Amino acid sequence: QNKTTLSIIVVGASGDLAKKKIFPALFALYYEDFLPEHFTVFGYARSKMTDGELRNMISQTLTCRIDKRENCNDKMEQFLQRCFYHSGQYGSEENFKELDDKLKEKETGKLANRLFYLSIPPDIFVAAVKSASCLAASQFGWTRVIVEKPFGRDSESSRELTASLKKYLIEEQIFRIDHYLGKELVENLSVLRFSNLVFEPLWSRQYIRNVQLIFSEDFGTEGRGGYFDSYGIIRDIMQNHLLQILALFAMETPVSLDAEDIRNEKVKVLRSMRTLQVDDIVIGQYKGHSKGGKTYPSYTDDPQVPNNSLTPTFAAAAMFIDNSRWDSVPFLLKAGKALHSKGAEIRVQFRHVPGNLYRRNFGTDLDKNTNELVIRVQPNEAIYLKINNKIPGLGMRLDRSNLNLLYSTKYTKEIPDAYERLLLDAISGERRLFIRSDELDAAWALFTPVLKELEEKHVAPELYPYGSRGPVGAHYLAAKYNVRWGDLS
Ligand code: BG6
Repeated sequence: QNKTTLSIIVVGASGDLAKKKIFPALFALYYEDFLPEHFTVFGYARSKMTDGELRNMISQTLTCRIDKRENCNDKMEQFLQRCFYHSGQYGSEENFKELDDKLKEKETGKLANRLFYLSIPPDIFVAAVKSASCLAASQFGWTRVIVEKPFGRDSESSRELTASLKKYLIEEQIFRIDHYLGKELVENLSVLRFSNLVFEPLWSRQYIRNVQLIFSEDFGTEGRGGYFDSYGIIRDIMQNHLLQILALFAMETPVSLDAEDIRNEKVKVLRSMRTLQVDDIVIGQYKGHSKGGKTYPSYTDDPQVPNNSLTPTFAAAAMFIDNSRWDSVPFLLKAGKALHSKGAEIRVQFRHVPGNLYRRNFGTDLDKNTNELVIRVQPNEAIYLKINNKIPGLGMRLDRSNLNLLYSTKYTKEIPDAYERLLLDAISGERRLFIRSDELDAAWALFTPVLKELEEKHVAPELYPYGSRGPVGAHYLAAKYNVRWGDLS
C-alpha cells in the first residue's frame, strides 16, 4: 500500500506529564484533524496494563474544546481505539524489541514514521535510548525523539548527556522540548517585535531601561519534591524557560523564519551574555506558617525533601547582554514557587521622556510614570502598554492608563496548550521551537559557575513565607540596578 503511517510512542506513559499533557495534547490534535490519517499511539512504561486499562487511564484527562462539544465523545472513543500499550523496562533491549514488533504490525504502509516522546527521568534516559534499537533512524520514514528536560544539571553533565544521546541518535532526530516556547504569547514575541514598526526601533538600550522576566506559582512542590530537590528552581525554570524567553526577546532579526536562522540568533545572544555572578543572584526557600485557620507547609515538610535541604524554590537574578544593543540594560529574572500569585510575564520598562513637559504633573516619583510594555504569558493572556494620559476634564491631571489587548475579549478561539503546538511541530519536522545542542551548551555556561559556588559554599536560601512575595533580598538586588520589580498583574 502507498500510505504513510505514524506511530507516536509515549515512553513513560503512566507518568504525570504523559497523563496531564501529552495524551490530552494528542487528542486535541486528533480532534482538530491535525494528525495524519493512519496513526497509532503507543504507551510504554513499566507498570503492567492492558490496552483497555491504558485507554481508561487516558480517558480521565482528555477534554473537549469548549466550542464544539457535540461529537466529542465519538471522537474520544475513536482516538482511544488508536491507543495501545506495551509494558517494559526502560533498559531492556528485549522489551523494546517486542514493542518494535508491535509497531511493525501496524506499519503496513510504504513509509513508517515514528515519533518517540521520552517522558522519563533523566537517569534512565540514556539507558532507554541505548536499549531501544527501534529509535534508530529508519530508511522507511523518519524516527524522531522528543526529550524532556532536565538536560543535565550543569555544563559537564549536559555535554555528557548530549554525547551519549548522539551515540545512538543524530542531532536531527533529537527534539529537546522547552514547553514555554510553545506558549502562544512566547510564539507571538517575534511577531510583535518584527512586524510592528512601533516596537522594533525602541528595542534597545537607547529606550529600554530594564526587562523583567517573571515566573510565579502560588503552590509548592506538592508531590514533586523528590525531583525538585535535586534540581531547584534555577535549573527547573530559570536556565531554560526564562532564559529561552530572554533569548527570543533580545535576539537580532533572523535572516528568515527558518529554524536554523532563528536558533543561530538565539545562540548569539546567549553567547553574548555575561556569566551570572553570585552577587547577582538571590535565592530563597518557602517556609510554612498558619494564616486564617489554614496551615501552609514548608518546602522541607515534603516527605521527599531532606530536612536540611538548601535547594532554592525561589531565585532572582540580574543578567546582562554584552552587545551593542543591550549594553548595561539589566535583565532581571525571577522565578518562585509558593508565592502570592500564579503567572508568567515579560515586563519592559522604558526610559524617561527627556525634559518631559509634564514633569510637574508627575510628582517626584518619575519612575512611576515611564512607559511599560507588559506581555502576560499566562494566565489571562494579554499585551498591554502603560501610557500617561490626561484625565478628562478642565484641569491638567495625568494618570497611567493601559492600551490593552486582552486575548479573551479579542479572540474567541481557545488558546491551544503549548504541548499541542510542540507535538505538531515535531510531527511536521519543524525545529524552530526546540533547543539545539549549542543553545543548551551556551545556556548552561551562564549558570554553571554560580550553581557550583552556591552548592560548594552551602549558601543558605533566604526563607520566605508560603504565599508571600518572596525574599526581600530580591528587592535589594533590583535596587542595586535602579529597578523596581513590577507586580504580576
Ligand atoms: C515545568 C517545571 O517545566 O514547568 C515545573 O518543571 C513547573 O516545576 C512547570 O511547575 C510550569 O509550567 P506551566 O506551563 O504550568 O507554567
